[in-house]
Amino acid sequence: MPLTKQYNEILTLAAAITEGVPNNVSNLSNVSAILFENLKDVNWAGFYIAGEQNGEEWLFLGPFQGRPACTSIKRGKGVCGTAMAERRSVVVENVLEFPGHIACDERSRSEIVVPVFRGDELFGVIDVDSGIFGRFGEDDREGLEALAELVGRILL
Ligand code: SME
Repeated sequence: MPLTKQYNEILTLAAAITEGVPNNVSNLSNVSAILFENLKDVNWAGFYIAGEQNGEEWLFLGPFQGRPACTSIKRGKGVCGTAMAERRSVVVENVLEFPGHIACDERSRSEIVVPVFRGDELFGVIDVDSGIFGRFGEDDREGLEALAELVGRILL
């Protein structure tokens, strides 16, 4: 399916603002802001970045827009940790029914998490939350996966 007009615009904005910028924090920050400003009914948008602690795999909070959020999420935990462990996008219509959902912002009702790969390695995930049940569908999954590919290409 072709991307929606909205995601085409988001991709165009993300490509333009990151062009020639040799810094991951700068680029991920602006991509978070582009998502937060352009998607309707979203209360959190940003990145978690894969890392290691005490020999275990974790996700650590990266650049984002929204309320302060959980700093670290263990592989396999919550929606983000599930996307990390399974290396695939996870769309949750009702986070209240997702086993192990981590409620960083109690207003969240639905969520989408998309992995970002740097080559074969999982760099992290894009996470977007909404206060509306069932906010995210196929359009969002395809659009955010295309954005994750773009991000994967510009990562240093
Ligand atoms: N709800 C996520 C945690 C991150 S916050 O939504 C920003 C989860 O269950 O993984």
